[in-house]
Amino acid sequence: MKRNDDLMMPRPVRDSQSEMAEIVLPNDANPLGALLGGRLMHWIDMAGAMAAHRHSRNYVVTAAIDHLDFVTPAHVGDLVILRSSVNRVFHTSMEVGVKVFVENYLVDTCQHVSSAYLTFVAIDAGNRHLQIPAVIPETDEQRRRYEDAGRRRETRRLELERRRALKR
Ligand SMILES: CC(C)(COP(=O)(O)OP(=O)(O)OC[C@H]1O[C@@H](n2cnc3c(N)ncnc32)[C@H](O)[C@@H]1OP(=O)(O)O)[C@@H](O)C(=O)NCCC(=O)NCCS
Repeated sequence: MKRNDDLMMPRPVRDSQSEMAEIVLPNDANPLGALLGGRLMHWIDMAGAMAAHRHSRNYVVTAAIDHLDFVTPAHVGDLVILRSSVNRVFHTSMEVGVKVFVENYLVDTCQHVSSAYLTFVAIDAGNRHLQIPAVIPETDEQRRRYEDAGRRRETRRLELERRRALKR
């Protein structure tokens, strides 16, 4: 579906940059006080959606979340910081990167917990897919992520084809 020209103006990555913070509470944790992986996945989805909404100025749905590693645990009382931005836009889909850190304000540490790549598709209220405006990487880091996102899309496409072939 075509959108009006103003909404299709390319936007810099910085316009989509978002940050979300959560304090780990007992209800987010297992009996040993460690943050549940599923709760973190939910927060990653929310943080990713913020960047996707900001960039596309539209409703989005999560089409895929790539492989996730949890490098460092977070515990009850820790502050979890999630930073997200759009890495690259394709047509109706875009890749968003989310980087998660855990801050312990008592001992003043900040550690990397996880990095995730999510694909969002822009849709309207009738569930029709919408074209998304291009994203402009401005820094070396953003340009590297842009290039890497192209390679990851190809890997995802091949993997999707492989799984579909198995179902036939
Ligand atoms: C994601 C969804 C919109 C894709 O719709 P579709 O008609 O199967 O997809 P299409 O083949 O037309 O592809 C549309 C775009 O999505 C991308 N896409 C579709 N499936 C994908 C996947 N598994 N991984 C990455 N990208 C995917 C395509 O590459 C295409 O991108 P492009 O337009 O930028 O080239 C649809 O499957 C859906 O609505 N799924 C449920 C989403 C949802 O409810 N999410 C919340 C979690 S339950």
